[in-house]
Amino acid sequence: MASRKIEFYAEVEASVLTESARKLLREYSGIPDAKINSHVEAIRLEAFQVCPYPCIGMFQFLDLSLSSMTSIYAEVLQRLKTGNKFLDLGCCLGQEIRQLVFDGAPSANTYGVDLYGGFFAVGYKLFADRDRLQTTFIAADIFDELSPLATTQLAGQIDIVYVGAVFHLFSLQEQEMMAVRLVQLLAPRAGSLIIGRQSGSEEAGEFSRAGDKNGKSHFRHNPQSWRELWDRVGERTGSKWHVEEADLSAPEFGLSSAAAEGMSAEIRNKMSAKGLRFVVRRM
Ligand SMILES: C[S@@+](CC[C@H](N)C(=O)[O-])C[C@H]1O[C@@H](n2cnc3c(N)ncnc32)[C@H](O)[C@@H]1O
Repeated sequence: MASRKIEFYAEVEASVLTESARKLLREYSGIPDAKINSHVEAIRLEAFQVCPYPCIGMFQFLDLSLSSMTSIYAEVLQRLKTGNKFLDLGCCLGQEIRQLVFDGAPSANTYGVDLYGGFFAVGYKLFADRDRLQTTFIAADIFDELSPLATTQLAGQIDIVYVGAVFHLFSLQEQEMMAVRLVQLLAPRAGSLIIGRQSGSEEAGEFSRAGDKNGKSHFRHNPQSWRELWDRVGERTGSKWHVEEADLSAPEFGLSSAAAEGMSAEIRNKMSAKGLRFVVRRM
């Protein structure tokens, strides 16, 4: 895991938030405009204490990626409104779930899973919704076959999984195992969906994460290597998966790039790095 100190991100100010993130905080959470910047800066500090992920330093916990995927968002919302179950794997503070709920999805049909359960309380604080959100949050390691995630009745019951900025934390072999776990969580029927985003690259391969000192291996996909992974996962699980979207054109971070002006080259490079957005559907 990358291990930068919070000071490294000091130059990234709350001005990087997009208007849609501000709207969510204003209209869903009831936070007045004048207080949004100080609120999210305090939350960044708290979340960083749970686990110092670079995405937290960059305010990615307010990057609303799912709703920006216009090819699929309306279908996700519609399916949730008619009873489908949605799970955000590696949900961190849970911004994607809050956007869905703001847009009319019943929160009781949503599940958030993260390795660090400490993020859930920070998420309630960020969105001021502990008294009304009916999402089920589960602290679990997706790789652990004995975790609450694998042993509750959830296995085989989820209709739509969202997974943002999680696959790229792992090696290709680990990613394949993670994908198999997601298949096991999803209902074994045509139409089950896996949607998400992660770091991407025109050239697929191993990469090192800034600040990483533990020598762990990480793999970045291009659309072709991502399709090949799902072909292998299909063979391993006796199912068939169609990668109907694998798009490398958008930056990984959904933050306001205008705010990057004047920041250090390292931060500007992070903000303009390519992301892979994907939709994978069971046939
Ligand atoms: C880089 S953050 C991305 C957070 C959020 N999905 C987003 O897009 O803003 C990765 C998240 O995945 C979680 N995570 C990492 N490994 C995991 C695992 N093995 N099982 C469950 N969650 C994991 C981390 O704790 C972290 O919250």
